[in-house]
Amino acid sequence: MARKRKTITIPDHGISRDVVLKEMESIRDSDAKWKDGKTFAYVYYAGEEHYEFLKKAHNLFFSENALSPMTFPSLKKFEAEVISMTADILGGDRKVFGNITTGGTESLLMAVKTYRDWAREKKPEIKEPEIVLPISAHPSFEKAAHYFGLVTKKVPWTSEYRCDVDAMKRAITENTIMLVGSAPEYPRGMIDPIKALGELAIEHDIGLHVDSCLGGFMLPFLKKLGYPIPDFDFSVPGVTSMSADLHKYGFAAKGASAVLYANEKLWKYQFFSTEDWPGGIYASPTMTGTRPGSSIAAAWATLKAMGEDGYMKYSKMAMDTAQQLQKGINKIPGFHVLGKPDMAVFSFTSEKINIYALGESMEKRGWVLDKLQDPPALHMIVNPLQGQIIDQFISDLRACVDHEKEHPTALTEGMAALYGALATIPKKDAKDTVLGVIADQYKV
Ligand SMILES: Cc1ncc(COP(=O)(O)O)c(C=O)c1O
Repeated sequence: MARKRKTITIPDHGISRDVVLKEMESIRDSDAKWKDGKTFAYVYYAGEEHYEFLKKAHNLFFSENALSPMTFPSLKKFEAEVISMTADILGGDRKVFGNITTGGTESLLMAVKTYRDWAREKKPEIKEPEIVLPISAHPSFEKAAHYFGLVTKKVPWTSEYRCDVDAMKRAITENTIMLVGSAPEYPRGMIDPIKALGELAIEHDIGLHVDSCLGGFMLPFLKKLGYPIPDFDFSVPGVTSMSADLHKYGFAAKGASAVLYANEKLWKYQFFSTEDWPGGIYASPTMTGTRPGSSIAAAWATLKAMGEDGYMKYSKMAMDTAQQLQKGINKIPGFHVLGKPDMAVFSFTSEKINIYALGESMEKRGWVLDKLQDPPALHMIVNPLQGQIIDQFISDLRACVDHEKEHPTALTEGMAALYGALATIPKKDAKDTVLGVIADQYKV
């Protein structure tokens, strides 16, 4: 049954700021202690020195608003230069343009909206525009289709967990306006066959968005280091747009992603303007109105401070750690990493054990791992400084596996129960349950 909520009101008299800050510190006690290296999701950390620098850069532009580049030319400069630097990292030339958004989701929302408006002009005969995308593509594409009135057609992956190009070919119809590939996709950390998808896009005269939200600031550097990274960026014919998150492996502050287009004409379909509002002519390049100057400034500061050598160093550290973790996991009888991950993101499973219950036992020991489905698996986004926890992770994992084998968890409580239950009930009912869980989370 849905939870009722309590009523919380503002205090009659403002509380001392020191007291408020102390209260916040104590509320924070229940959060993941990610600096101890046990969190493999949500946080990207390049060490204390960079962290403190980032906070300073962020604070310098704490109140500035990129809604008005005329009022804050500094932010205009930062944004244009971040886009230029990111385009260069991603094999783009001077024709590539784009914007900083608040995150990967907004970048993908913008890309879908851009192709929708492009198709409205260039292919007006299409009344029900379709996106064809691999099943592994980030849910934000589906969210965008839901928001903007498009249809998604999902194609399976091959036995190697990469997009099935033949299936994508078969799924394209006269209503298709864009294709999607990921570099890499979130669930398995693997790059789709972007070259082949580019050929399909060219053949059908449609866009191809490469979602490199996770990999945009790691794959190019791994490639330079000699890792076998297939071509995935603007250098591939047919790639018309990309997204790369500054706030993931870019190590910028939260609230910063780059969305990039192969040329200015395509980019302009992203914009919105209205000219007859009494408040004046209103024009904006992305979804949001007010745009925090702090995250844009911190993104610029990060690219400058990291430089190519910084990104090479941190990419290698994360990759070495990920590979050692994978080795340790693969050595546990019945356990294996799924597919052949291209970077420091991967998932693992076992057919011998309830993997969700295992995830929960690991959580009790302070580890944070995301849970995946089809098949049930645990997910790891590896940070550069997690090298020191490899042994502890593997020994805790082994201990939890042994415990699970001896005392298999009954699915009666906690998240394991939720995941277990969701895996067995029809998708329609699962949706209701999930929506109820979301609503309950925001009730005090
Ligand atoms: C491949 C990919 N695309 C998009 C996103 C969405 O990014 P955000 O959570 O910043 O909106 C993610 C998030 O993990 C991702 O892994």
